[in-house]
Amino acid sequence: MTRLLHIDSSVRDQGSHSRDVAAIFRHAFDDALPTAHVTYRDLATAPPPHLIDAVAASMISSAERSSDQRRALKIQDELIEEFLAADAYLVSMPMYNYSVPSTIKAWIDHLMVPDRIMTPDGVASPIQDRPITVVASFGGGYGPGTPKEDWDFLRPYLNKIFVDTMEMNLTIIDVELTNSTYVPNLAHLLPLHEQSRAAAVLQATDQAEAVAKALDRSVDPTTESAAVSY
Ligand SMILES: Cc1cc2nc3c(=O)[nH]c(=O)nc-3n(C[C@H](O)[C@H](O)[C@H](O)COP(=O)(O)O)c2cc1C
Repeated sequence: MTRLLHIDSSVRDQGSHSRDVAAIFRHAFDDALPTAHVTYRDLATAPPPHLIDAVAASMISSAERSSDQRRALKIQDELIEEFLAADAYLVSMPMYNYSVPSTIKAWIDHLMVPDRIMTPDGVASPIQDRPITVVASFGGGYGPGTPKEDWDFLRPYLNKIFVDTMEMNLTIIDVELTNSTYVPNLAHLLPLHEQSRAAAVLQATDQAEAVAKALDRSVDPTTESAAVSY
């Protein structure tokens, strides 16, 4: 069965640009591949705990672990297994204070475990080449040539984690200048925001269809070989 892991993280459950564009991806993906199984996780309503107990627990024998440590390791194990089980990923997130939401950081901290998801140099990642689409919303604008271009720690961080470390196929869909929709002295930027949102909607639809098509081809080898043998 083909699996998509869909994660939202904006603290807003209404009026969230990142959730909204991710929902457009989902709609197109579900239409294109209705047999796919989707696992949905909302990190705003169910934030993963910070790591301390899980890390401490992994360094001592199971007999020495407290019940809190056992619980922490179980949560980490579930997050890792859920991540490994997916064939494709859709993650939506806002920029908060120039970087990813702390819930996304906590989730990634649980995943970055040596020999499960991180591999030594020269050993292929277990999730190599899997497609991960991130829908990122920004109150401001951080594109090339803008005054705050080098304040963006969100996109470089995601590249380091998902591309350089996990060797995944990362696509980031940006919705920029969302503050212009409600901050009066940014109203002159509204047309640029609308342009950015329209491009994001198109990109989300195209990307969802492309991911669905690639998965449809890659996960049904039995049907393909039966056709060849006749
Ligand atoms: C706590 C907080 C911090 C924020 N920090 C930034 C920031 O550093 N840069 C930026 O461009 N926008 C920032 N914003 C604005 C959000 O990125 C913007 O409102 C975005 O649209 C939120 O995503 P959402 O629409 O999916 O909820 C911040 C918003 C909040 C609530």
